Parts: sequence; structure tokens; C-alpha cells
Amino acid sequence: MRENRINTKYIKVNPEFPEAGPLEEGGRVLRRGGLVAFPTETVYGLGANVLDGRAVAKIFEAKGRPPDNPLIVHVAGREALDGLVKGIPRAAEELMDAFWPGPLTIILQACEKVPSRVTAGLDTVAVRMPSHPVALGLIRAAGVPVAAPSANTSGRPSPTNARHVLNDLDGRIDIVLDGGPAGVGVESTVLDLAGPEPLVLRPGGITPEELKKILGAVGVDPAVRPGFKGEGGPRSPGMKYTHYAPRARLLVVEGGEEAVAAKIVDLAGKYRAEGRRVGILSYRDSMDFSPVGEVVPAGCRANPETVAAELYAALRRFDEMGVDLILAEGVEDRGVGMAVMDRLRKAAGGRIIYV
Ligand code: TXA
Ligand code: MG
Repeated sequence: MRENRINTKYIKVNPEFPEAGPLEEGGRVLRRGGLVAFPTETVYGLGANVLDGRAVAKIFEAKGRPPDNPLIVHVAGREALDGLVKGIPRAAEELMDAFWPGPLTIILQACEKVPSRVTAGLDTVAVRMPSHPVALGLIRAAGVPVAAPSANTSGRPSPTNARHVLNDLDGRIDIVLDGGPAGVGVESTVLDLAGPEPLVLRPGGITPEELKKILGAVGVDPAVRPGFKGEGGPRSPGMKYTHYAPRARLLVVEGGEEAVAAKIVDLAGKYRAEGRRVGILSYRDSMDFSPVGEVVPAGCRANPETVAAELYAALRRFDEMGVDLILAEGVEDRGVGMAVMDRLRKAAGGRIIYV
């Protein structure tokens, strides 16, 4: 952890029509090698100038991020990919036509000049054009591509508002631009187009079903499947760490809705009898668990988009409440629900109960 704290400047900005002043100030700080947190349509990002190795190193320091976990390069337009990637395959062009700007990150062969701190020494680079007006305006104002992981302490749930960013990084970054809540709530889909066939390395805001419409076929990295212990590890280095995790131990219960509810009631009773404070992560259209635990709802399970939007804030809420243990109801593993379940299973560090 960095000893010498810096003064983090908090600036409110209009999310739809961002004012020029804050964008220019953020852009200037990025150009000079500083760190700026900003909203995107997925989660808040922590930006640095891609071309400035020292600035990129500060990201790893501020987050406590392992150096072997590469960063996503954010651009404000396709022309900025010149000099970052070796070529844009036809499939990538078509995906960009369909989903950029938006929550799709594409992995392509990297040019040599992309600093190895960004790629963690891989010969590929992850690129994405976000759709949030503040993100786009900031990157344009900076005039350079912006490396940006999620703006949280490594291992904690990603930030979906500026308060989450300050809780983790106040005193370690130069500016946070507060553009209100991020939209999707879970990170972008990471799609590898540098290998023999298109492969989803991280499910996210764009679903495999949507990708299939453009690509025909798309694989999903086995590391994304529940319970993966795997040979060789995941292809996306970031997927191997415990992630997205609140401080309390989290247990995910998956299966039919009624069996899951019964199991949660049963477990909550058992843990409370041991004198533990039990949190329950459920949904507004679930049964009322309040008699057996401290409930935080994350959206409606019938609408996985609403669950994604509220998931990380709910996990952080349990930390504020100070529960000892969280029991989480699984949701259907479909559409953006796939990203939700991926994050929940990872937050649980593999503690999944099937009923
Ligand atoms: O929605 C998002 O993608 C957010 C916002 C801020 O844009 N960013 C984000 O970044 O989630 P981060 O650093 O938290 O996650 C990046 C993921 C990691 O799992 C990393 O390992 C993977 O992308 N990644 C980056 N470059 C890669 C590469 N060349 N090959 C494979 N995986 C890569
Ligand atoms: Mg992250």
C-alpha cells in the first residue's frame, strides 16, 4: 500500500451531457501520468495513459493488482486501434459494427509498442470502446488510449458508483468523476479473437446468444463453468483470482427455486443458532427471508438485467452491515444471468451448494 496519500479530487459530472471542464481536467491529468476514475456503462474504471508505463504501474499499485493480470485498453473510436493491434480481422469488424460502443472487449494481436505492463507480457491486447458519454468524452479529451481496470481494490466487488470508488481508492488516485450509477452493473464481455476460434473468456454485458448472431459459433472458456479446477488455468489471467468478493464468507445455493429457498432457511437457522449474523442475498420477487436473516435484494430474478445492475452494490452493503456469512440464491444461468452467476460463484470462491 502506498504510504504517501494524495488528495483525491471529487468532481460531479452530468452523465448524459458531460460538461467540458471536468472532462478537460481529467484528460489533462491522464496525459500527465495521473489516475482518473470514471463511469462506464458497465462499472467504474480506473484510467491511465496506455503509452505511459509509469502511469500504468500506478494502477497496479493503487489497486493492489497482481502484475500478471493484463488491462483493457479503452478507445473512443476504431481509428485509435492503429498502432495498438496488428490487424482487425473481419469478425472483429462485424462485432464492432454490432456492439461498439458498448460492453464488449475484444482480444487481438498486440503491436510491439503496447507496453508490457498493459498486456502483462502477452502478445495480445484487450480493446474496448465504452458507450458511456463521460468515458468517451474523457478518452477524447485525453487524446490517448486509456488503460482501465475496474476502479476497486483488487479482489473486492467492482464499483458501480463513485462512493464505491472512494471507499476503496480515496487518497490513492488523482480524480474521481462522479457520473451517477453505472448502467449494466457487471463488467464487459471479454471475447478472445486471437485464438483459433472465438472464445468468451468472461461473460458480461453482451451475451453469447448475441455474439452467435454475428459469429455463427462462439465457445465459452471452460474456466467460466462452475467448479472449474482446470488444467493449465483460464486463458484470461484475471479469472484465476478470487474476485468480486465481499469480506464475509459467501455461499451460493443453486437449483430449483423452492428447494433453494428451503435450503437457505435451513442453513440460516443453523448458522444463527451458532451465534452468527447471517446475510441473505435474494431478489424482490423471491420469498421473504427476513424472518431468518438480514436480507439485501438485488433486482428481480425474473429480469436478470436488474440483478446485474444491483449485484455489486448488494455485496458491498453486506460489508457495511457487518454480517459474518452471506447465503446467496442462484439465478438462471442465461443471458446476462450467466455473468451474474459467474461473479457470484467466483465471489463464493467455489463454495456452491446444489440442491
Ligand atoms: O467492463 C469492463 O470491462 C471494465 C470497465 C472499466 O471497462 N473493466 C474491467 O477491467 O473489468 P478488469 O481489469 O477488471 O478486467 C479485465 C479482464 C481481466 O479478467 C483480464 O485478465 C482480461 O480482461 N484481459 C485483459 N487483457 C487480456 C488479454 N490480452 N488476454 C486475456 N485476457 C485479458
Ligand atoms: Mg476488475
